Amino acid sequence: MASNTLYSGTVVVAGATGRTGQWVVKRLQHYGVRVRVFCRDRDKALSLFGKDVECVSGLIQSATDIANAVKGCTAVISALGSGAYSGESSPGEVDRDGVIRLVDEAAKAGVKHFALVSSMAVTRWYHPLNLFAGVLLKKWDAEEHVRKVFSQADRSYTIARPGGLKDGEPLRHRLHVDTGDKLWSGWINRSDVAELLVISLWVEKAKNRTFEVINEIEENQQSLESCYSNLPE
Ligand SMILES: NC(=O)c1ccc[n+]([C@@H]2O[C@H](COP(=O)([O-])OP(=O)(O)OC[C@H]3O[C@@H](n4cnc5c(N)ncnc54)[C@H](OP(=O)(O)O)[C@@H]3O)[C@@H](O)[C@H]2O)c1
Repeated sequence: MASNTLYSGTVVVAGATGRTGQWVVKRLQHYGVRVRVFCRDRDKALSLFGKDVECVSGLIQSATDIANAVKGCTAVISALGSGAYSGESSPGEVDRDGVIRLVDEAAKAGVKHFALVSSMAVTRWYHPLNLFAGVLLKKWDAEEHVRKVFSQADRSYTIARPGGLKDGEPLRHRLHVDTGDKLWSGWINRSDVAELLVISLWVEKAKNRTFEVINEIEENQQSLESCYSNLPE
């Protein structure tokens, strides 16, 4: 692992065993940032990341488990996402209450930066995706909580609202970013969403920003830092 010169803290990744979360862990490792994985399934985390990555297992429904996971960390990146209409993995439990609990415990523990994977169209109550247990409405509630808590004092946040997610390597597309939830369609690689949130740890222009992001054209990139410079004020 490269030794880190860009960010010296420890980052908790929630939803690390998911498809975007795995990329968050990989990109943190790429930059030599210390990672702690918070997951519900330790065996899954072990099989994905091996023994060298610190892993704290627990439930997103438990404030105590979350407090244990975020203790001593400086940043949290959440790639959590619901996978069921009802029950413990529903949008209400994961996308809203899980993220809100994570935000509150992180703030209590002195975490300085919170980065969240949200979704394009999160402001549109009439979007068909809301037929899935109001998933976008739940994500909106979580976003609002992140902005409220992490815009205070010496804290910061970054919220990415990607279009449809695809698999593939990072830095293979020029990205289009916007604000105000005006985009209607588009795709982006999970790995690029991960990259954007990882660099939000040290890119000043990423602080306290909420933005939409999709692919523009296929074109190799050295860095995604310019996405943050291109964000409308
Ligand atoms: N799919 C799209 O096109 C799209 C578009 C825009 C935004 N998004 C959003 O982007 C985010 C990442 O998407 P993705 O495709 O990477 O998601 P994913 O692969 O389904 O990963 C979701 C993560 O959330 C975790 N999770 C789910 N229920 C949980 C629970 N009850 N307790 C603890 N953890 C739980 C999963 O844990 P396990 O690994 O243990 O299952 C997994 O780590 C999600 O918020 C998604 O809604 C998706």
